[in-house]
Amino acid sequence: MEPTANNTKFIINGGNPLRGVIKVAGAKNSATKLIVASLLTKDKCIFHNSPNKIKDLQVTTQICSLLGSKIKIGNGTLEIQTKEISNGIIDQELGNSTRIAILLAGPLVHRLGKAEIPIPGGCRIGSRPVNLHIEGLKKLGCNVSMNDTHYVFEADGLKGADIKLDFPSVGATENILIASIFAKGRTIISNAAVEPEIIDLIKFLQKMGAIIEISTDRKIIIEGVKKLYGATHRVIPDRNEAASFACAAIASKGDIIIEDAVQDDLITFLNTIRRVGAEYQVVENGIRFYYKCKLKPIAIETNVHPGFMTDWQQPFAILMTQANGISIIHETVYEKRFGYVEELKKMGAEIELYNNCLGGLPCRFASSQYYHSAVIKGPSKLKGAEINIPDLRAGFSYLIAGIIAEGESVINGAVYIDRGYEDIDIKFRNLGADIRRIH
Ligand code: EPU
Repeated sequence: MEPTANNTKFIINGGNPLRGVIKVAGAKNSATKLIVASLLTKDKCIFHNSPNKIKDLQVTTQICSLLGSKIKIGNGTLEIQTKEISNGIIDQELGNSTRIAILLAGPLVHRLGKAEIPIPGGCRIGSRPVNLHIEGLKKLGCNVSMNDTHYVFEADGLKGADIKLDFPSVGATENILIASIFAKGRTIISNAAVEPEIIDLIKFLQKMGAIIEISTDRKIIIEGVKKLYGATHRVIPDRNEAASFACAAIASKGDIIIEDAVQDDLITFLNTIRRVGAEYQVVENGIRFYYKCKLKPIAIETNVHPGFMTDWQQPFAILMTQANGISIIHETVYEKRFGYVEELKKMGAEIELYNNCLGGLPCRFASSQYYHSAVIKGPSKLKGAEINIPDLRAGFSYLIAGIIAEGESVINGAVYIDRGYEDIDIKFRNLGADIRRIH
């Protein structure tokens, strides 16, 4: 699961408020799933606003190429056509380096009757099991077994089923959704995730010929069809990149316009920004975020959509180190998503972790020993330090810390950030940050 370490790092001289205009890329957590869904047809599919430079997308296209897809990458476009699938075994090293591989179960079973997919391991943010994916696929009539390295999925056609998820998992919802398109009859996913990236996937599948309904009570209903066709789709802009840059701008006391940031996908984030005393303004082609006055502390709890997203908590934690008072973050989606805090303390951040559910209702980790609540005391004057990135979103938050800190910071592990953000150093430099990438 972890990217291969190399020593590419960022050197930052902090202190410059961010100012200017940037444009967010297409959403990694949508584009990669759309690529998988394209394998449901032999026709060509075309994606615009595709974040072709990010590593997670490149790994996904590599996996599909090895399976038989023909892929053409352009400037922000990606064309994929999978006329034939040569084999249904996913390379272990590639499959283990992304959470996307498991989503290929449905398309491969549909095309070949069999799929062999590397068993995903945990990663630094949690154990990340796939039990809900497996249970869902079994309910659709898939036979699932395991060998030493791979899950083996087998079926001669799938059948619609009623599937209630114990937790609205994004990946499990996507997996069942993709697999059930050709299942005979009706599939109902209850307690489904309804993140904007899932709606984007549904919109693409609809364009391909699927029949999918979404009801207001987290139910997704799929009516099996016989065939899907090629389609063209524009990937939604990355709301996580937008939220990350917004936190960076405000923490640095700056003022930026984020082109392509979409208000609909950021409603909870925008409310939170205003509650802490910062401001935003929805403009014609994006959203402007700016520092207005002293920041106020806040208690937030991460949650599934439409709640405050777990991928926003790391950049938000840095923002809270600059607020005047005590803030609380209760992480309820992943059990280990505060692994980044220790390094920040080296820069002068005052953050303590607790294994209780602070600032909200007890969550599913209430009786566990996981340190999933953070108390952040602000304002702290951060100072430059050398720190090591543990994962993607934490990596971005370290860049923010470097940008607002006094002096030089060395941030090791650029490879983690490159998994999900395109040209990150270039974008920050365009906003006035003093940041260099060193190979
Ligand atoms: N879970 C289970 N069993 C399952 C599946 C999930 O217990 O079968 C648990 C997980 O362990 C976790 C929680 O459910 O505690 C949420 O997991 P979910 O399946 O919703 O997440 P995911 O599909 O693995 C996607 C994004 C994450 C994002 C989450 C939550 C992708 C590739 N990843 O992960 O993004 O945080 O949804 O919105 O879409 C990132 O971009 O860096 C990232 C981690």
